[in-house]
Amino acid sequence: MSHQIIKDLEKRYTSKHYDASKRISQEDLDVIYQALRLSPSSINSQPWKFVVIESETAKQRFQDSFANKFQFNKIRSKDASHIILLAHKTHYTRENFAKVVDKGIKDGRTKAENREQAFGSFAFAEMNTDENGDTSHWTKAQTYIALGNLMHTLARLGIDSTPMEGVTMNC
Ligand SMILES: Cc1cc2nc3c(=O)[nH]c(=O)nc-3n(C[C@H](O)[C@H](O)[C@H](O)COP(=O)(O)O)c2cc1C
Repeated sequence: MSHQIIKDLEKRYTSKHYDASKRISQEDLDVIYQALRLSPSSINSQPWKFVVIESETAKQRFQDSFANKFQFNKIRSKDASHIILLAHKTHYTRENFAKVVDKGIKDGRTKAENREQAFGSFAFAEMNTDENGDTSHWTKAQTYIALGNLMHTLARLGIDSTPMEGVTMNC
């Protein structure tokens, strides 16, 4: 198949090593960050934080996180230009959703007089909240949508990437 989308995706692969001398340009980073921000999520909840690791100190902290587990991943990230953590909110609340609703009002997506009505969709979050207020299984699923969007964007830009799961860091 000769479609550009298919060519991009055929070329993409999970990189195991990086060239430390190569850096992602600011122009490409701007596209990557905006693509991440434009990722869809259930009820537009956006229950995530995207953390960019760029400084040598932050990269060292990231490397140190493999001290006790997933050591095989340590070498994968050693020389990478940038590392992006896609973190999910473990306890997504009505207050978190209010920020989305109010931003929607500010941007003209929702009319101010429809504010209360906009909270109707929060029922989906409640449906996915356990008795301890934990929403992880639902919020984590939203984050994978952003991951897919990110990986496709990188493929389009011809930038190598290595998806990894299970990284635990105190951000
Ligand atoms: C959610 C997710 C988590 C992954 N975790 C790791 C990982 O921790 N370490 C790694 O080397 N590869 C990881 N991979 C890469 C997969 O093993 C890889 O995508 C798969 O084998 C297909 O190979 P390809 O990406 O080169 O086409 C992960 C991929 C995904 C989508």
